[in-house]
Amino acid sequence: MSNGSAINRRMFLAGSSAAIGSSMVLPGLAAAAPGAMVSSAPAYGPLPGVAKLNANENPYGPSPAALKAMDAAMRKGAYYVNDSVTRLKAMIAERHGLTSEHILLSSGSSGGLTYLAQAVSGSGKILGPDLFWDTTSRMGTRQQGEIKRLPKASDLAINLAAMEDAISDDVAMVQITNPNNPTGMVLAPDELVMFTKRASKKTLVLLDEAYNELTDDPEANSMVPLVKQGYNVVVARTFSKIYGLAGMRVGYLIAAPETIEMISQYALGDYSLNQAGVAAAVASYDDEPFLAYAKAKVVEARGLISEGLAANGLSALPSSTNFMFVDLGKRSAEDFRAAMAQRNVLIRGIYRDYTQWSRVSMGEIKDVQQYVAALPSALDEIPEVAV
Ligand SMILES: Cc1ncc(COP(=O)(O)O)c(C=O)c1O
Repeated sequence: MSNGSAINRRMFLAGSSAAIGSSMVLPGLAAAAPGAMVSSAPAYGPLPGVAKLNANENPYGPSPAALKAMDAAMRKGAYYVNDSVTRLKAMIAERHGLTSEHILLSSGSSGGLTYLAQAVSGSGKILGPDLFWDTTSRMGTRQQGEIKRLPKASDLAINLAAMEDAISDDVAMVQITNPNNPTGMVLAPDELVMFTKRASKKTLVLLDEAYNELTDDPEANSMVPLVKQGYNVVVARTFSKIYGLAGMRVGYLIAAPETIEMISQYALGDYSLNQAGVAAAVASYDDEPFLAYAKAKVVEARGLISEGLAANGLSALPSSTNFMFVDLGKRSAEDFRAAMAQRNVLIRGIYRDYTQWSRVSMGEIKDVQQYVAALPSALDEIPEVAV
């Protein structure tokens, strides 16, 4: 097997988790073939020449300050976390005018989101739109409970009125991902505030704000103030996206102390956090120059992708995130994923039955250029199918 085809096989395995009905393998995690030799130096990121645009990471991170902090923390890696966790909770609480008791830190926001889904699934269903980042709710409802989905929306937007109507007595939580993943679209802030106030009188409302910092107006788009105002709301945030720390695994939930306590019944304690990740989060949290730089790169990349798509007769939904959801028209997103993988560009395949929609993340500018350069021949290769 040539080196090129070995890479392509790896990429195929990495992207195949996007297929309909696939389980929880994260993009980028490919199992070694049984009996394969384990190489002495693992790859910590994409292989050279590979544009990894399949997991909404921020390749500009970790920031210089985070790297320095991690170096110091790593040297004390013999010890479980302690002061750094207290510090991080206090920083987050202070920004929002809350207390540390309002914060639950976890290994990525996936940790807290899964604990939350487990916590509510005993008392009812989790209500969400047809298409949203449902990984943790699927995980949390494996033992009991289920996800109730709204009908497919033709514009792929979240229909808040329909969501409100669907809050029946058997719904234990409403889950809104805002901006949504994989669509990238953000809800109108005033409508979301009104919806959340009303809906949270009937049931718990979860706002997953993983991409909030990448929106045009993060403050207006955040529902954290509703926690302070006493509404029955949980907000999830992460250091995996704009902070560029996906591999360092730090995220958090913000909610009323009694809600945090309820979720904590299902959670591993703070000791489950890792010293270097927390150090990086503390060092990055207020690093405005780094955050502004990363955001500018995302905006630049979105511009390049939009231009590249237009030049090939395609378009994407309006994105407020570091990824775009591309309308392939009559082409299959799985065929497209495979054709792009042949060209060393990793993107996502089909989501549920949205067979003609393809998600691409904003990587480094060179990665995005590689995506754009690969478009004409990849598209040319794919047969058009009846929609
Ligand atoms: C909307 C959303 N929420 C949460 C997550 C989980 O990220 P993490 O566990 O790295 O914080 C993701 C990851 O892609 C996401 O897209």
